[in-house]
Parts: sequence; C-alpha cells; structure tokens
Amino acid sequence: DRILTEDDFIHQDELRYPFEERGLQFGDGIYEVIRVYNGKFYLLKEHVERLYRSAAAVKINVPYTQEEMYDHLKRLLELNKVESDAKVYLQITRGSAPRNHAFPKDTAANLYAYVKDLPRPTDLIAGGVHTITHEDVRWDWCYIKSLNLLPNVMAKQAAEELNCYEAVLHKDGEVTECSSSNVYMVKNGKVYTHPAKKNILHGCVRMRVEAFCDSQNIDFVEESFKVEDLQYADELFLSSSTSEIMPILKVDHLQIGDGNPGAVTRLLQQRYEEEAG
Ligand code: PDD
Repeated sequence: DRILTEDDFIHQDELRYPFEERGLQFGDGIYEVIRVYNGKFYLLKEHVERLYRSAAAVKINVPYTQEEMYDHLKRLLELNKVESDAKVYLQITRGSAPRNHAFPKDTAANLYAYVKDLPRPTDLIAGGVHTITHEDVRWDWCYIKSLNLLPNVMAKQAAEELNCYEAVLHKDGEVTECSSSNVYMVKNGKVYTHPAKKNILHGCVRMRVEAFCDSQNIDFVEESFKVEDLQYADELFLSSSTSEIMPILKVDHLQIGDGNPGAVTRLLQQRYEEEAG
C-alpha cells in the first residue's frame, strides 16, 4: 500500500495509459461517477462504499482505506479548485501486466480519477425525456459497477439514434433499469422499481429516492414491472448521479400518463433539490 503524494496528481494531458493495462484489455476494473454540487461531493460515502463492494466482488485489492479514499477525492477537488457543479470519474483496474486472462501475480491495482465540470441538466429535469425499450443482454452481476459497458453502450447508442435520452432495459419483458440509470414506474400513487438484486446497479440516487418516498409517505415498492405494464403507468422516471431525477414522457411510441411530468415525480425532484442543491 502506498500513500498518494502531490506527484500523483498530474494534468490529464500528461497521463500515459499503458497498453497492457487490464482495464483496457479486459475491462478488468470498476468505476464510480460521483456528483459534485457547488464544489462539494453529493453522496460521497454511498459511492465510496459501493466502490469497495464492487472491488471485493471482483477481488481487486484497493490500495487505500476508505478514509484515505475520501481524503484523495477531496484533494482532487481542492487541486482543481472546483467550486461549481462537476462530476468525478474514478476507476480502479486490476493493474498493468502482460496480457493473460487469469489474474497477474504481484500486480498492484491502478487508480485513475479526474474531475470535470458538469452543469445540471435542468431543461431535461423540468421537461422530461423520451426513451426506447431495449433488451437487457448484460451479465447477471450488474450490481458490480464494472468497466465492461459494451451492452450499455450499444443500448444507449440505439436510443440516441432515435433521438432518445435513454434505453429502458428489459429481460424477457421484465424492466430491470436503464443503460446508465435506474427506472421507476408510478401507479396509483406508489413507486415501483426492480428490487436491488444482483442483476441491477444499486444506484446511490435510488437509495435517496427510497428515502424521499419514505419521508413523503409514498409506498416504495421493490417489485419489478413489465414493459406491457407501462401502458397503465401514471408516471415514469429515471435516476442517476448525472441525470438526477428525470421524468420519462415516452417509451418507444407509448406516451406515459398524460404526457407531462407527474406529481409524484415532481415531489421527489423537489426533495432532491432541497437535499442536493
Ligand atoms: N451511471 N444503473 C446503471 C447501469 C448505471 O450506470 C448508473 C449510473 C445507475 C445510477 O446509479 P447512481 O444513482 O449511483 O448514479 C444505474 C453513471 C452515472 C455512469 O455510468 O455514468
């Protein structure tokens, strides 16, 4: 284990990424995207804890304690003089080693992180977005925030080609989540979402959505729904660290509810605003 020094913080243009790096060659690593509002982390603890859970699940030894990780991430914001809204991308790979599928011996994990300005998507949060449905062809362990994002990339691209913001993923018709966000259906005042099992990412904002529901006496039901149920949905919304809580107005050609952001979604957005803003 090693303590980070000032020399470990370099300008992004100075980074030389080794070719024989397991993140690059195998997607053998994990990552987090952490929101920063007004120069301060939002849900930092939740993200760092998930990072360590992901690392443990794929047997990557993180070379720092969680306490050290908090310090390093805060230092990253300080050195970049971040005062506005931004995101931190952080990845940990199994390290650099000659290409061989099995884990390399005596190889330390590599950690890369950077911070980048990211304004809040206020127009989309207010106005809502359109989505497509897409088959969820990912593996069974999507609770691990792994670097293997090709299925997510393919789904998001399919959405983009139809001028849509997200792809609502389903396995045999059962909605799991979106390509880079969680998804929720509102029906008769209750919020339904896929249970936090191994086949979806347990979103940090999802945790807050549950807490906001509790505080508003809205039933948060961890029960999956089907694509065909969407025709009876009153509201639909998605959540992520970059998208926040965003109304979904359309799925493929189906209009959700009356085609406008719904009251429950608005209420949860308000709670998010109070907490994060
Ligand atoms: N994506 N589901 C998937 C598949 C995701 O990739 C993400 C986050 C989420 C929402 O998680 P959270 O609320 O912790 O951000 C759900 C990030 C933002 C990304 O890959 O860019």
